[in-house]
Amino acid sequence: MCGIVGAVGHENCSQALFDSLRRLEYRGYDSSGIVTIDESEITLRRAVGKLINLERALQVSPLSGAIGIGHTRWATHGGVTTENAHPHVASGRVAIVHNGIIENHRVLRNRLQADGHNFSSDTDSEVLAHLFVEALDQGLDPARAAQQILGQIEGAYAFAALLVDYPDMLVVARNASPLALGVGDGACYIGSDAIALSHLTRKVIYLKDHDFALVRADGVTVYQADGTPANRESVIVAANQGLVDKGGYRHFMEKEIHEQPDAIAHSLAAMTGADGRLTAQLDDKELQDIEGMVMLAAGTSHYATQVARYWIESLTGVPVSCEIASEYHYRSPATSPYSTALVISQSGESLDTLMAMRHAAACGMKTIGLVNVPDSTIAREADMVLPTRAGPEIGVASTKAFTAQLTVLLCFAVALGRSKGMLSRDQVADIHAKIQALPGLVGKALGLFDVIRPIASHLATAKSALYLGRGVLYPLALEGALKLKELSYIHAEGFASGEMKHGPIALIEDDLPVVALLAADPLMAKASSNLREASARGGRIILLSEARAAAEVDYADAVVTVPDVDPLLAPILLAVPAQILAYLTAVEKGTDVDQPRNLAKSVTVE
Ligand code: AGP
Repeated sequence: MCGIVGAVGHENCSQALFDSLRRLEYRGYDSSGIVTIDESEITLRRAVGKLINLERALQVSPLSGAIGIGHTRWATHGGVTTENAHPHVASGRVAIVHNGIIENHRVLRNRLQADGHNFSSDTDSEVLAHLFVEALDQGLDPARAAQQILGQIEGAYAFAALLVDYPDMLVVARNASPLALGVGDGACYIGSDAIALSHLTRKVIYLKDHDFALVRADGVTVYQADGTPANRESVIVAANQGLVDKGGYRHFMEKEIHEQPDAIAHSLAAMTGADGRLTAQLDDKELQDIEGMVMLAAGTSHYATQVARYWIESLTGVPVSCEIASEYHYRSPATSPYSTALVISQSGESLDTLMAMRHAAACGMKTIGLVNVPDSTIAREADMVLPTRAGPEIGVASTKAFTAQLTVLLCFAVALGRSKGMLSRDQVADIHAKIQALPGLVGKALGLFDVIRPIASHLATAKSALYLGRGVLYPLALEGALKLKELSYIHAEGFASGEMKHGPIALIEDDLPVVALLAADPLMAKASSNLREASARGGRIILLSEARAAAEVDYADAVVTVPDVDPLLAPILLAVPAQILAYLTAVEKGTDVDQPRNLAKSVTVE
């Protein structure tokens, strides 16, 4: 999932392109590059690694020209090398940048090589540049060339092509991967999302799947795959504060951990109607029509669905199935009794989740998109939207978006329970009051950095770790383990505490870190005896628990307590020390906290 950008009609566009790439670096940071045309000359600059390396290359030899394209890469095909960095140039006449995967690239490459085309990279994307050279050599104009190429390629793509023979336009197209076209004053732009263009224009056109377009300085002409002109409305996107700074924190993740009280308060406010009732922005009819729900998501968002299942089942009686998006899409899932697919995604662009949502819609389900990015593809395609209001999340490891998702999901469960007559007015008011107290409680948990720091220093020496939770805390154990994995590169696994004795307990040996999540809920005693079994085999128990439950585990090696809270809300509050533990362990290990290796913030390939 790379980031692509482009500009036409913008004097010395390379700086504008570079600033756009900075806003997209969360999408991939293996390599980057920019190419422009000036006086009929294609000039390329590429660098391996972070954008700063490209910045240095541009300072040494700047680019000129009013038309150009750029790219920041998350490697899918071909190693992390300069040759595999985009833009790719073919025959000195066509340059391309691409996000997605051309699934039939090998067949196309073999045919083009047989026809004499010389490839200089191992990427799937480079075939696009050669296909354009081939089409132009056949005498096709850019629109016909694009139409012919779209007829040949398979897979997910958002690409932009720069043609020396046509230096006044960019040729762009998309299928499944996101692409926004920005209409400016005497110049036009393209970007993988509107954030990339926020310093240039807020007037944006979103292409539909299989659309292609010619982008000139004075405007955009959109076509459908069959070449017929298409009318795509422009929208004015929400003003974006553009490049978010760290606000004095060392890392975006540290800042975003501290922003959770606001993220929760703002998300709760979005779920509250003008009359102060929890509505989840859905009217009672829409809620009552929900017969059964499939919840679709990936990664941390998937774990949020698993926590929410406990709430929805207990508060509403509505059957719920939690599905890993990348698996659901390729199964023939039973659709009854599910009337609705609730799709959760921070970015609103994860392709696995988008394709799973489309699959559910094709099976006749209503779709609800729970997203943190208002203008995202999932938000635009879903029948209904539940917004989290966590603000831009830059750190690749999701923190405030996760607790905001849980807040919105709990509000949704309460509103659904009320509409189904499962919750009385008093019960609704009681839970509502407890959710309103959350930002304050989370604020208190933010004071745990100093308590956790020495525990993290020890954890940083470990090769692996286990996370245990029972009931609604089991999915939080999975999330805690994911945070440690993706941030510190320590192999960590989350288990349901009761499942340990059926095998995983064999992993325990002296001093193996066992991070245990515990709340004063009906499963506390059972969970505590599971921990005692782990401790008896030498496991080093790191307890993350409500204060009143900590006494249960007097044999723990390290204890971190959060304020006492209703068991319903324990997963949200206990997420904070789990995040801080993973964060401080990564800082201790010196890994790249905000841009961990091999990861990207929004995964737009399958
Ligand atoms: C979480 O820290 C990871 N960045 C990752 O698992 C993420 O949750 C997953 O890729 C889903 O992203 P989404 O919520 O934007 O769809």
